[in-house]
Amino acid sequence: MVSRDRRIASVARSVRLVPPLPAPALLACALVLTACGGGVHGTPGGSGVRDPYFPKAGNGGYDVAHYGLRLAYDPEAHHLTGTATLTARATQDLSAFNLDLLGMEVEQVTVGQGIARWNRAGQELTVRPHDDIDRDETFRVTVRYSGAPETVTDPDGSREGWLRTTDGVLALGEPTGSMAWFPGNHHPSDKAAYDLEVTVPKGLRAVSNGQLRGETTARGRTTFVWHSGEPMASYLATLAIGRFEISRSRAGELPVYTAVDPAEAAASRPVLRRIPEVLRWAERRFGPYPFSSTGAIVDRAPDVGYALETQSRPVFPGAPDMTLLVHELAHQWYGDSVTPESWRDMWLNEGFATYAEWLWEEDHGGDSARETFDALYSGAYFDTEEAGEEVWEFPPADPPSAARISDPPVYWRGAMVLQKVREAVGDARFFGILRGWAATYRHGNADTADFTAYVEKRAPGEDLAGVWDAWLYGEGKPERP
Ligand code: TRP
Ligand code: ZN
Repeated sequence: MVSRDRRIASVARSVRLVPPLPAPALLACALVLTACGGGVHGTPGGSGVRDPYFPKAGNGGYDVAHYGLRLAYDPEAHHLTGTATLTARATQDLSAFNLDLLGMEVEQVTVGQGIARWNRAGQELTVRPHDDIDRDETFRVTVRYSGAPETVTDPDGSREGWLRTTDGVLALGEPTGSMAWFPGNHHPSDKAAYDLEVTVPKGLRAVSNGQLRGETTARGRTTFVWHSGEPMASYLATLAIGRFEISRSRAGELPVYTAVDPAEAAASRPVLRRIPEVLRWAERRFGPYPFSSTGAIVDRAPDVGYALETQSRPVFPGAPDMTLLVHELAHQWYGDSVTPESWRDMWLNEGFATYAEWLWEEDHGGDSARETFDALYSGAYFDTEEAGEEVWEFPPADPPSAARISDPPVYWRGAMVLQKVREAVGDARFFGILRGWAATYRHGNADTADFTAYVEKRAPGEDLAGVWDAWLYGEGKPERP
């Protein structure tokens, strides 16, 4: 926080030392204070980060380094109480900033030691700290809140957010559901470490990302403490509360923690026990596993028919098959460690995870990736002609709307882009690119232009423009090569 004294000092400096400015420049300074050499007051941070599909998602003016979430949930009462403490760095002088929070009752907001004023409009929680925050300053904001968290319906009709199950809840956040259960900078471009402390009625368990650091029972309630040290996009945070069969093992040095709905336990076991084998294979193809724990959550929630690559511990809506396990584990490299800069870059997640399925099959005696590509191209891959045509409805790098960021072109045509790159640069360079991409952007963010630039750098002299134009950005079905 800016101390009172420093604020006064900066007022004095601006009054005494800054030479008088002509009127138009003064006006410009009023609009763009930071451009005028350490203005007296900060300006409000943006209410979004201009995501092309979710313009209100995320917030400008700061960068979260750490979320400390302390939650208590009683499934019978469907009541959550929470205290969220965010540690963030200001990226501009701030008079106010926004957090994203959907529903819930906000009880108190503090910034540093001081009570802050706040107001709400839709998903935007605007916080006005007592004192302005300086650019580059690290500050702490604490939000106390409670209520019945909402289930969110996505533009494509799928359900996320806070999903009630028969014995508890499952929290899923792609693309925007995490704002239903904690306030934050809910955009993939702002990644942070997490510590989560969750108290539930005794007999239930709370399972989240990362490592279980504590489990204590007192007065009829159990508190679980989870730690995620590596940066995580908030859409990859999860929380499953309920009755689970727990298994702990190791994949080499890596701790494996799986939590499975008892009704899915028998069917899940033969697949989940192969997590170490899949990771060994993936490390050979993609490079070192990027997180310090792994595992899976299998839980049934009504209306949730999809799996999600929640960081270090993917969620499955029922016992997975090998292909789905490979897909979600591949996302740990492509999506979770290397995270899209915006929701437009979804194919960098889904195209890669789909290509990982093809590679797994190729490396295990099944069809080669080229054969899968050919089947997609001819339409033989699908049961119906209509399904085959959907792959060509739009270019993977440019979905036409928020409702379509997880449509077939993003998955299949996205994977086809990688096959085209492979054939253009050759296997040796291609697998170097897969590993190098994961290494170069490890724990960071990247967009489609970063990808094409990276491939071109790794394949000097190769003309890839045709691949990008036809397969990545082009409308319609590309002509056969
Ligand atoms: N990412 C998930 C997967 O393929 C699928 C998914 C679930 C999804 N919810 C989404 C994709 C919302 C885009 C948007 O493993
Ligand atoms: Zn996926």
